[in-house]
Amino acid sequence: MATKLPTATQNPVKNKWLFILGRETTLSFAEIQALFLLNNIEHEILHNQENKLIFTAAHLPDAGDLIKKLGGTIKIAYSIGKIKNPNQLAKFLNEHITDGKIEFSINGSMSLGIETKKILKQMGRSARYVEAKNSATVIYNNLIKSGADIEIYQDELFMTAAIQPIEDFSKRDFGRPGRDDESGMLPPKLAMMMINLATVKTDKTIFDPSCGSGTVISEAVLMGYKKIIAVDISDKAINDTILNLQWLKTNFQVKNNTDDIKIFVGDVTKISQKIKSDSVDAIITEPYLGKPLRGSESSLVLEQQADELKRLYLESFAQFHKILKDDGVAVFIIPRFKTSEGWITIDCEEEIEDLGFKNDCILPEEKHLTYWRETQHVGREIWRFKKV
Ligand SMILES: C[S@@+](CC[C@H](N)C(=O)[O-])C[C@H]1O[C@@H](n2cnc3c(N)ncnc32)[C@H](O)[C@@H]1O
Repeated sequence: MATKLPTATQNPVKNKWLFILGRETTLSFAEIQALFLLNNIEHEILHNQENKLIFTAAHLPDAGDLIKKLGGTIKIAYSIGKIKNPNQLAKFLNEHITDGKIEFSINGSMSLGIETKKILKQMGRSARYVEAKNSATVIYNNLIKSGADIEIYQDELFMTAAIQPIEDFSKRDFGRPGRDDESGMLPPKLAMMMINLATVKTDKTIFDPSCGSGTVISEAVLMGYKKIIAVDISDKAINDTILNLQWLKTNFQVKNNTDDIKIFVGDVTKISQKIKSDSVDAIITEPYLGKPLRGSESSLVLEQQADELKRLYLESFAQFHKILKDDGVAVFIIPRFKTSEGWITIDCEEEIEDLGFKNDCILPEEKHLTYWRETQHVGREIWRFKKV
């Protein structure tokens, strides 16, 4: 079956792109902005609402490569214009998929799909309309490589060029051998978004001072970072990180040498004794978030936990200031705790700034970004500070 799929850089309609964003749309948008900033990708945003980001960009990297580097983008599609009726769409698909059966899905109008299929059949083409409910159906039916997956938005049609490799993320999330189910695990997608938010090139030194089972480290390795330091106070966490890195090498294409990664047991509050001053470009971490919560804890207990964590975080930032290079960044999760009366937050922005940092969120209108599911007792605030 042959398709005439234009490559991402040969976008037929004025290089106009639709990115479908993940559940945390602001965070996903910030990640794209960070990645474009780091790679000097000039673009003009036309629309950014709900989970749809539409922009024009003269030069975009190959969509298939790009989607693997974005934890928060579900789909990348390019505009094929305002095709108004099934005749036009059938004509387009007939030209786009030159032989064999035309398998296609349309997200946004089932009736258009069914009508188009009828017309294709009248044209003598064998056709199948797939009701693509989610990414998994698009992947399972191989619609991107040998068919067509189309999104309709505001009367405009967008052809999917790449879809998030959900199976790979899920394998890394649930398949790795070293796990810490008790304290909960950082989702690999979020780890990838945090690394992107740091906006450091892959030849720079990055450091996770509370590496846990090594989620940030593993994603960093896959993204091509070579100079990596991983520390944790727990022997088990360090063993899990080593085990997970070995597993990563056998299960994913790891191109870079992981032998140079420095992994050792250490206490973040004394870490400047073990890591040279002014040597780290970016600290990227989900730190200790406190004891796992059941949801029945009193506000008093949660407030005490918040105070203890605040002390730990401020001691950590005092250390970060010593080991970070000038202009170095820290992308750091601060938890917030849900109670029946509202959120208990850990307010330490001012104190962190007093230690020699400035809040430098990728989106200037935001202080921090949020990652939270309704069912969770702990919300994650993703902060980005720059050493000043
Ligand atoms: C939420 S987990 C970290 C998740 C991790 N960043 C990842 O990518 O998977 C928190 C970790 O902080 C570690 N920790 C707690 N106190 C610490 C300290 N003072 N110094 C270093 N690590 C610490 C814990 O052992 C635990 O593994």
